[in-house]
Amino acid sequence: LPLLLAVAVGAYLLGSIPFGVVIARAFGLGDLRKIGSGNIGATNVLRTGNRFAAFLTLLLDAGKGAIAVLIARLAVGEDAAQVAAGASFLGHIFPVFLGFRGGKGVATFLGTLLALSFPVGLAACATWLAVALVLRISSLSALMAAALSPVWMWLLGAERMVALGVMLAVLIFVRHHANITRLIAGTEPRIGRKPPAEK
Ligand code: G3P
Repeated sequence: LPLLLAVAVGAYLLGSIPFGVVIARAFGLGDLRKIGSGNIGATNVLRTGNRFAAFLTLLLDAGKGAIAVLIARLAVGEDAAQVAAGASFLGHIFPVFLGFRGGKGVATFLGTLLALSFPVGLAACATWLAVALVLRISSLSALMAAALSPVWMWLLGAERMVALGVMLAVLIFVRHHANITRLIAGTEPRIGRKPPAEK
């Protein structure tokens, strides 16, 4: 149990690194929390017009989740890998480095899924991409990917992940409440366009 606690704390701290904020600042794009939706993720970095910075944010926010899972699996085992997935995700949405005001967890969620079960991760990424290509709305793509991920887990033989998948999907929906309101109102912007500020 102390081992799992150490994994949780380590993964939480890794997940807490707000790469979007760091990268936006490093690229001279300003304070990401004052741009677009105010969210700290790759979708909002893209609203600055800098695609490379957005891509890097996506890669690093997903990567921190994946690395947390892989290290935990190597060092401790499969249960620890799931703990690391949950903890790094919580780190991203409640980061200690930003006064617990973090992001919506989508990239980190996808990264942890790829590391926990590559087929499940691929299916979730494909879901995101399919919705994004057709409808061009990032939040809706994320909601669909999150909602379907427990189904992919179950279908692809990763039943042991379903409970975690449901919890993370619920948190993703909660974090997207403002997006969901706009989706229902028909005012959620397409990828690259700016919504009204959320915070
Ligand atoms: O990954 C977050 C995305 O689903 C929504 O971001 O900035 O449009 O609220 P945003």
